[in-house]
Amino acid sequence: MNLAENGENEHGAASISVPNVWRTLPPEFASCDVFYSDPPWSRGYPTFNARAGGEWPPYTAFVLRLDRLALNLAPPVIYVVDRSFARLCHADFTASLMLNGRPAVAASYRLAIPVAFKDSESLLELLARRFRRVGDFMAGYGRTGRVFAGLGGSFVLSDYNAHCIGYIANHAPGWFRP
Ligand SMILES: C[S@@+](CC[C@H](N)C(=O)[O-])C[C@H]1O[C@@H](n2cnc3c(N)ncnc32)[C@H](O)[C@@H]1O
Repeated sequence: MNLAENGENEHGAASISVPNVWRTLPPEFASCDVFYSDPPWSRGYPTFNARAGGEWPPYTAFVLRLDRLALNLAPPVIYVVDRSFARLCHADFTASLMLNGRPAVAASYRLAIPVAFKDSESLLELLARRFRRVGDFMAGYGRTGRVFAGLGGSFVLSDYNAHCIGYIANHAPGWFRP
């Protein structure tokens, strides 16, 4: 789904869709110059899967899948995760920060980042000042896109939960600077 008209700027039309991360990423993601996601943590993983419906592999396989995805993409990828994820993955750099009021780790592939941030929003702001189009394939309610659009950037967002994508479709046009 393309958000052209009010969801468009000089970096192109924003785009949203409903695939899951076990499949090949939709081709729209090829236009991104950076990726950011905060995936489910181990305790929340079954809840997100139940909301999306269907059968899903165990959490460790999910971490390894996200790790492989990040290793195979060319642009920098940053996941905001818990310590168990950070220990399993092959990120090049880590930083500490808060995510929704809880201590978390930013695991960064190919992009050196400061060792600490206040929170995920300040990390996203730093990325939005440096890159023009972000991809988030576990976008939830779209904070990644909101921060980029608010700072003049654009985004490609997907999530396997159609409810989240419906929310983004309804709200994203208002995230862009007039
Ligand atoms: C912690 S939330 C992300 C919150 C988001 N940053 C926001 O602004 O609301 C994690 C998201 O990952 C999505 N997710 C979990 N497993 C997924 C999968 N296999 N494929 C695609 N999305 C997935 C969930 O539906 C959920 O919206």
